[in-house]
Amino acid sequence: MQTGVGQSHAKIILIGEHAVVYGQPAIALPVFAVQVKVTVTPNPALHTPQIKSAYYNGALTRAVGQMQGIRRLIEQLWQKLDSDQTAFELQIDSDLPPERGMGSSAATAIAIIRAFFATYHQELSQQELLKLAALSENLIHGNPSGVDAATAGATTPLWFVKGQPLQPLPINLQGYLVIADSGQKGQTGAAVNSVQNQMMSNPEKTQPLIEHLGQLTQQVAQNIAQNKLTALGANLNHAQLDLQALNVSNSQLDRLITVANQNGSLGSKLTGGGRGGCIIALAASQTAANELAQALLAAGAIKTWIQPLHDF
Ligand code: PMV
Repeated sequence: MQTGVGQSHAKIILIGEHAVVYGQPAIALPVFAVQVKVTVTPNPALHTPQIKSAYYNGALTRAVGQMQGIRRLIEQLWQKLDSDQTAFELQIDSDLPPERGMGSSAATAIAIIRAFFATYHQELSQQELLKLAALSENLIHGNPSGVDAATAGATTPLWFVKGQPLQPLPINLQGYLVIADSGQKGQTGAAVNSVQNQMMSNPEKTQPLIEHLGQLTQQVAQNIAQNKLTALGANLNHAQLDLQALNVSNSQLDRLITVANQNGSLGSKLTGGGRGGCIIALAASQTAANELAQALLAAGAIKTWIQPLHDF
């Protein structure tokens, strides 16, 4: 048995978060510049499997809290793939900030699954990859739409509708997305629950917001196909208004979005579950993207990434 390596990447949701939970489409993009790598090294000298990571070091059996979903996934993979049950060391090297709406848990799960299948030389279909990733995602996030894992396993942007086959959505725009980390943890679970409560207590207000987000996502797909960057930016701004009305933004995200829009962004919104985490801002050129990133850092963002939108 040899060492097996698996990799995956961050994701952002361009548009459609929250509405995607209610069957509306979302558009999500892989962010290849931000990677997670998992290495599995079988080692018969170990008594029990060990994990090495920035958040937890120690025996697999003692991994609790946020590591619980990952632990369950690793146990299942070990049982499924290693009939000898040889102990191993599993190392996670991740550039993804956790709980920032960049899909850290899903990307880690995808990298773990790939590393196990590589270690035990087993074929892995895309379908099985996503089914296994759903195991830990369901444990961590309750009942997620699956958009995070799908994008962590994808090599192209995706048009995602819950429960439907994934559709690649090629993007070739002369624009750039600036991703800025607010420094606050996102609160996806709380935000998703809150939207659900609003849907039950006030469907007259909530349902139209969800449907409008779905329409904006359809329009953004057209903007992408027709190379209309300004219209795309305007639609991102409209989506942010709907997300604010759903009460999933917060003052820090709103402030960064205002700074972005005052510093040349064509349109800006939160990305992911919200109430913390990251924002995205659309820039027309690399220079404009650099300036936006500087302005956002000066306004309190703790990190920025620039994602080109051509040849995607
Ligand atoms: O915060 P993230 O990146 O995990 O994104 C969550 C996206 C939601 O639409 C809010 C929830 C979901 O399950 O799709």
